[in-house]
Order: sequence, then C-alpha cells, then structure tokens
Amino acid sequence: MRLFVTKYPHYHIVNLDALTYAGNLENLRDIDQLPNYSFCKADILDTAAIDAIFTEHQPDAVIHLAAESHVDRSILSPLDFVYTNVIGTVNLLNAAKKHWAGHFEGKRFHHVSTDEVFGALGNTGLFTETTSYDPHSPYSASKASSDHFVRAYHDTYGLPITITNCSNNYGPNHFPEKLIPLFINNIINRKPLPVYGDGLYTRDWLYVIDHAVAIDTVLHDGKTGATYAVGGFNEWTNIDLVKLLCRLMDEKLGRATCESEQQITYVKDRPGHDRRYAIDATKINTELGWKPSVTFEEGLSITIDWYLQNTAWLQNVTSGAYTEYYKKVYG
Ligand code: TYD
Repeated sequence: MRLFVTKYPHYHIVNLDALTYAGNLENLRDIDQLPNYSFCKADILDTAAIDAIFTEHQPDAVIHLAAESHVDRSILSPLDFVYTNVIGTVNLLNAAKKHWAGHFEGKRFHHVSTDEVFGALGNTGLFTETTSYDPHSPYSASKASSDHFVRAYHDTYGLPITITNCSNNYGPNHFPEKLIPLFINNIINRKPLPVYGDGLYTRDWLYVIDHAVAIDTVLHDGKTGATYAVGGFNEWTNIDLVKLLCRLMDEKLGRATCESEQQITYVKDRPGHDRRYAIDATKINTELGWKPSVTFEEGLSITIDWYLQNTAWLQNVTSGAYTEYYKKVYG
C-alpha cells in the first residue's frame, strides 16, 4: 500500500480491508492523510459492499491481497479460509467482471498467491510457474482453489488477470503469528522459541518491500493471463534462521552471546508440515527485470530494529485475542 500510494501520486488508491485480527490502521498512519489514498472497511464476502465500492471508485485495477494466511489458524478453522480465500476471491472476480463489463482494455486483476499451492519439495528442485499444484494444508488448498478461479475467469470470460506465487515474506508491521515476528516478540520477552518438529524444514525468505515491488512490476509489465513465481533465492532451515535471529537480537539488545538461543524449545510438529519450499524466480527476473534488493541480513536487521522501536505496537497486537490463540496453538 505504502509503495503504491507514495510512488504513484497520480493514481487514486482505495484500501479495502475487513480489519480482522491482523488488520491494523496504525500500520498506515504515515500515508492515510495523502490525497490519493482512501480507506473502505469492508469484507470481500459482502457482495453489496464490494459492488458499492466498484460503483463509487470505478477502479482500473484490483490488487487482491485479502486473505486468511496463517497455516496454523487454517488447521484450527478451515472454513474461515474457504469463505475468505475462495468465496471472497470469486466475489471480487464477479465484481470486476460486472463493472468492467467486457471493456477490458487497460484493466487488470492481479491476484497475490503463495508458493504453498505447489506442496512440498524434497532436498532438491525448485518451484516454477509450471509446477503442478499439490496443496497439503487447508490454507494452501484454499489459495490453490482461488488461483484456479482466477485463471478460470481469464479463460472463460477473458478477464485480464495476472498471478504471483510468492515465497515466505518478512518485514515490519507483520502480525506476530508467523515464524519471524513471533520469534522476535518472544526473544524480546524472553519467552520460549517453539521450533516445530526437528527444525529442519526449509523456507525461502523474501523482504516484504521486494514482494511489493514484484507486484508493482507484474501489475504494470506482466503479460495478461500470466503467472510469475517470486522468491528470495534465500533458503534457510528454520533452526539456522532462528539461530541467526537470536545472534542478531542478542547483539542489538546487548545480551550475552547465545543468550536467546537458550530459549529454543523443540515442540510437537505441525500436522501436514511441508518439508521444503523454494522458488525459481528466473521468469520474473529475465522477463521483467525484477530481483530482490536487500540481502537477508540487511532485511532482518531492518525488521528487528522496527520491532525494537515499536514495542507499544507489539504489546497492542499481542494483548486480548492473541493470548487465546497462543494458548490454542502452543498449549
Ligand atoms: P510460518 O511463518 O507459519 O510460514 P509457513 O508455514 O507459511 O511457511 O512458518 C515458517 C516455518 O516455521 C514453517 O516451517 C513452520 C515453522 N514454525 C515453527 O517452527 N514454529 C512456529 O511457532 C511457527 C509459527 C512456525
């Protein structure tokens, strides 16, 4: 949002958000007064509200990022993922189809998806745009389904779509349920660091701004109907990543070397846990010139600094319902 609003002062950007547990208007305080930005609180399940927003703003483009996105929550409540990720996506596709009414010149529906739709890799190989879908969690199954609907609206109705399937993101303002922000919060508070299973699961990490730049690139220059795999060329086993995080945070917090590592606790594995994700981002690199702009250590350092400077934000989002969620997942 911030990238688009500041980079394109001549675009009017409408931020549609249901403001469920991870939505937080505080995250956009620095841009919310800009004249090219508006906010609409609405749920993509509310077809009347979506219709009204299309009527009022007549968008030329939709960037669809609205989703339930956390695997552990999808294991607890799969239906929420079907509603928002599948039905919500179809509602948005229907609104675009209706309001653009066959006049697709200059229009674009960009769908933001995940590499998790491709399932799990063994020790070798990379996901590409042509990898077969093989989702294992309710979350990835719901995103796979939404991807299929987006392609179906292109193939059936000619809706001008693009899709990005991105690897794991990290960065400031990230709700502390995903690995990196959860562990940063727990390190700050000297709480146990719950590593699932043997800790040798592998993820490919990308700084969130680099993902935003990839979306911008595909929205403007991507081929209609095309999919682009986006990743950081940056694979880490969870345990190595957690140790790096502990080392960087001990330095920044002035703690003894290896102090935070003492908090690593191996816990029961996540059911259906995918062993390894890794993206081959050659297509977006060679066709559109995109590549990550920061190294992992740089991105992690910026991210940790942000959390250390925003402890009130962290305390705010980890009070109330977060405590209940934490108990349910971690006991
Ligand atoms: P996560 O951030 O939930 O992203 P995803 O499941 O979409 O890849 O998890 C990243 C990895 O970290 C994944 O292998 C699960 C693992 N993990 C833990 O070991 N402990 C945790 O508390 C969490 C949240 C994740």
